[in-house]
Amino acid sequence: MKIGIPKEIKTNENRVALVPAGAEALASAGHTVIVEEGAGLGSGFSDALYLAAGAQIARKAAAVWAEADLIVKVKEPIESEWEHIRPGQVIFTYFHFAASEQLTRAHMASGAVCIAYETVELPSRELPLLTPMSEVAGRMAVQEGAKYLEKLYGGRGILLGGVPGVPPARVVILGGGVVGVNAAKMAAGLGASVVILDVSLERLRYLSDVMPANVQLIFSDRHTLLKQIARADLVIGAVLVHGAVAPKLIRREDINIMRKGAVIVDVSIDQGGCVETMHPTTHENPTFIVEGVIHYGVANMPGGVPITSTLALTNATLPYVLQLAKKGYRHALRGSPALLKGLNIVGGKVTHRKVAEAFGLGYHPAESMID
Ligand SMILES: NC(=O)c1ccc[n+]([C@@H]2O[C@H](COP(=O)([O-])OP(=O)(O)OC[C@H]3O[C@@H](n4cnc5c(N)ncnc54)[C@H](O)[C@@H]3O)[C@@H](O)[C@H]2O)c1
Repeated sequence: MKIGIPKEIKTNENRVALVPAGAEALASAGHTVIVEEGAGLGSGFSDALYLAAGAQIARKAAAVWAEADLIVKVKEPIESEWEHIRPGQVIFTYFHFAASEQLTRAHMASGAVCIAYETVELPSRELPLLTPMSEVAGRMAVQEGAKYLEKLYGGRGILLGGVPGVPPARVVILGGGVVGVNAAKMAAGLGASVVILDVSLERLRYLSDVMPANVQLIFSDRHTLLKQIARADLVIGAVLVHGAVAPKLIRREDINIMRKGAVIVDVSIDQGGCVETMHPTTHENPTFIVEGVIHYGVANMPGGVPITSTLALTNATLPYVLQLAKKGYRHALRGSPALLKGLNIVGGKVTHRKVAEAFGLGYHPAESMID
């Protein structure tokens, strides 16, 4: 099979979907790997390394898209890439369709086979291709939050960990999944006073066993949430309802109960965000202010630390890429219930229930579309 790796062109996105070791694994299994010139540079991988691994280098993105049967990317194809997509071409990447009707309709119209990293799901309900990026984003949310709490950046001017004799900052984390836990570990490690709010009692029970003493676990309802955000210095949005648009937990009218100079880092912005006043931002312009509260809504946070993120992502995606390349998408999906859950759109039909529901589109079960 011909596998194409275009250079990521979303603003400040420096990750790449395949490292030279992955190219070597595919090439030695008899596949052709075509990497766009310079695609790996942002993550520290030169074209020479890909060539040495047995890949070909294409000068232009158009050539990669035109040649490849399977396109492996990091972020969803942006508008300027849509013209390249061919009917029947398999695209394996993060799509987050439920957050954008325009993106969904464009991919329906393309006739491509869209397999979304973020909805590949193991029987344990773990999302193995979202987990590594959630680990990165959760940890980074605390670094970014700490930075914007500094006075120079418009924040309250409070140090996360405080110092002896001075209380630490209060960090409130909405959602105790992978992002939430990684954020909590970092914030707690720095000495902050941390609260995780979640609606899953099972999750809260588990977390109460493994989290350090400066992390409080509280069941989330609206009353509790308002009480917590009113006292917070840093709020981290980390909720997820698999495949669906994020619930708006902080409403527009709630912002003015927060402290001036407090910071919200809404990691769930890639699924539409859990804060009504949030909108997606970029690494170039990461923040904006509403009612004195700093809003950070970068939708591709791991793109800011591409060396860590590329390695973490490709460790997780490569086994699936190898299956798709070896068996073709129909056989690969039939043989892997986890990968089948990743199928979101095929031949113009939506095969993920939550994506169909988000935009009132017809839903076609994935199983019925791969015979
Ligand atoms: N911005 C970025 O760069 C970036 C990077 C990685 C992940 N993400 C996003 O971060 C979000 C979280 O990902 P994750 O891997 O931690 O998901 P996860 O499934 O591991 O955890 C989500 C948690 O949210 C909880 N939850 C659901 N509804 C809730 C509610 N109403 N109130 C409180 N808690 C609720 C769930 O019980 C679960 O514990 C996702 O939207 C993911 O796409 C964004």
